[in-house]
Amino acid sequence: MHTQIARTTPASSSWAERASSRYDEAYAKRYRAHDEEFQASGPCRELAAWLQRISAAFDPPIDVLDLGCGTGRYFWALTGVRDLVGIDASPSMLAEASRPYNAGRIGARSVTLVEGDLLSHQFEPARFDLVYSIGVLAEHVPFDETLVVRVSRWLKAGGRFAFTTVHPQSPSVPRTMTRRIGAWLEPFFNPRGAAGCYLRSRILAGGLYADEARVGELVAGAFDVESLERFQSEAHLHCLCVARKAHEHQ
Ligand SMILES: C[S@@+](CC[C@H](N)C(=O)[O-])C[C@H]1O[C@@H](n2cnc3c(N)ncnc32)[C@H](O)[C@@H]1O
Repeated sequence: MHTQIARTTPASSSWAERASSRYDEAYAKRYRAHDEEFQASGPCRELAAWLQRISAAFDPPIDVLDLGCGTGRYFWALTGVRDLVGIDASPSMLAEASRPYNAGRIGARSVTLVEGDLLSHQFEPARFDLVYSIGVLAEHVPFDETLVVRVSRWLKAGGRFAFTTVHPQSPSVPRTMTRRIGAWLEPFFNPRGAAGCYLRSRILAGGLYADEARVGELVAGAFDVESLERFQSEAHLHCLCVARKAHEHQ
């Protein structure tokens, strides 16, 4: 396996800047040390098996993009990969990803680690068969229409987008009085009306959380949902989605 680190445009969005300063060298080293223990945990095994199944569903070889790859915790779980590209805003996380967990089991022909902002970096259109993202969307960056359009552009027809989002009902989401009142009021408003839309956007914190309905409506234009389920990780209740790019959306 050949690994290279590509430094591209500096982090540009405030989200990327925040990630880059939060995931500093000390945090990245702790995260990477945790990768070793975490692999024995139920959630990690389930996510690894999930990625294994998704990648195995293609005719190999496939080209794969990991959005917000961090330390490359799940690289080893992919099968049939030719080129694996990981993008992350944190140079310290990428330094750890150059010696990821279970490196000997990574089957990819090449691994390229891109230091950049997943919200602004440009990959070639139709470059990837699979784009996946774990613990990043609707969590560290807003999950919205723009992001879905970007991912769809990078995927080949029939390619898959597999990702997690933090569910607004996650016990990790603070149950503030405002959130409780908002959730109580929501059923009384037309979801397409101005007040209903405003309330929903507040409940979803402008894209930092996404429930099944929100994931479904965002991907609906360009993707067919193959699976959409709830998943409890160490930290959050998530939506876990696999969506397939519709052939007419080239
Ligand atoms: C919780 S970690 C998840 C890492 C990895 N996906 C995993 O499951 O172990 C979130 C990662 O997203 C990255 N990140 C957050 N915002 C980003 C952005 N705008 N562009 C690129 N990476 C970003 C952070 O630097 C961090 O490495």
